[in-house]
Amino acid sequence: MTSYAITGASRGIGFAFVKNLAQNPSNTVFALVRNVTSSPELTSFAASHPNVHILKGDITSPAELAAAATSISEITGGTLDVLIQNAASLFGDAAMFKLTDLVGDAEKTEIFGNDLQVTIQQNVMAMVHTTSAFLPLVKKSNLKKIVVLTSGLGDPKGVVEWGWKDSVPYCVSKAAVNMLVASYSNVLSDDGVTIVAISPGLVKTQTQDWAPQFYETVTKLFQKSKPSYEGPLSPEESVELMLGTVGKLTVKDTGRSMSQYGTDDWL
Ligand SMILES: NC(=O)c1ccc[n+]([C@@H]2O[C@H](COP(=O)([O-])OP(=O)(O)OC[C@H]3O[C@@H](n4cnc5c(N)ncnc54)[C@H](OP(=O)(O)O)[C@@H]3O)[C@@H](O)[C@H]2O)c1
Repeated sequence: MTSYAITGASRGIGFAFVKNLAQNPSNTVFALVRNVTSSPELTSFAASHPNVHILKGDITSPAELAAAATSISEITGGTLDVLIQNAASLFGDAAMFKLTDLVGDAEKTEIFGNDLQVTIQQNVMAMVHTTSAFLPLVKKSNLKKIVVLTSGLGDPKGVVEWGWKDSVPYCVSKAAVNMLVASYSNVLSDDGVTIVAISPGLVKTQTQDWAPQFYETVTKLFQKSKPSYEGPLSPEESVELMLGTVGKLTVKDTGRSMSQYGTDDWL
């Protein structure tokens, strides 16, 4: 039996992780969500898959994460094999701003500052809270893996290569996540814990009106760097690739940031 906990499991990539992992009846899958009634799809999926447990877990709430860890511990006997930190905030109030928009604009600068703070809380400090809550269980498991979802947008080289101009708070938060993963790896290697940051690639999870145009624009941008780039993945395709990579991780990989393919090539 292998146990997995996935944060942000209500929709998108998180829900795709749950669906994929639950197919194997010997897996126990803990789906953490901030609102246990907001995802009818997850509720209905869990109702037909007894190996899926829905738990409340806002990643900005240490108390909720501690309660979720207690619930997991009661079911697994005190261990957690693989922690998948997927939840994140993707588009904040300043997502469309370019840094030069802030010059001489106090109002935009304030919105940008607030967005940066909120995004750091949601995507960076929340990663620390989540790791603190589940680390004691992970350390007691046999597999001892922690996977944190990052993005190619957290790599300065990628951002420069693609000429990516906006989503700055998000990019900063993912760069910080990569550094936290590297820093954690140095203090967890003696315990045999493997911690990595993995990008899912560009994945079609957004359903807003602007989403089709967004995916088309980003695809064209990426194709300028890599003409053979084929465009966004479905959540299911991305999860299949990431789980293949996670399955092959060894302690030698700890601290790395990698693509869904396990490489340094984000596209
Ligand atoms: N999609 C992409 O192209 C892409 C590319 C690179 C990296 N990523 C990364 O992949 C991960 C998943 O992205 P996605 O596209 O699936 O995002 P998504 O569709 O926007 O879903 C985000 C998920 O995170 C949850 N969440 C947000 N804040 C939370 C909090 N404070 N506590 C608990 N859950 C919270 C949301 O829950 P609610 O339903 O309650 O809002 C939702 O389940 C993220 O880390 C993202 O940065 C995505």
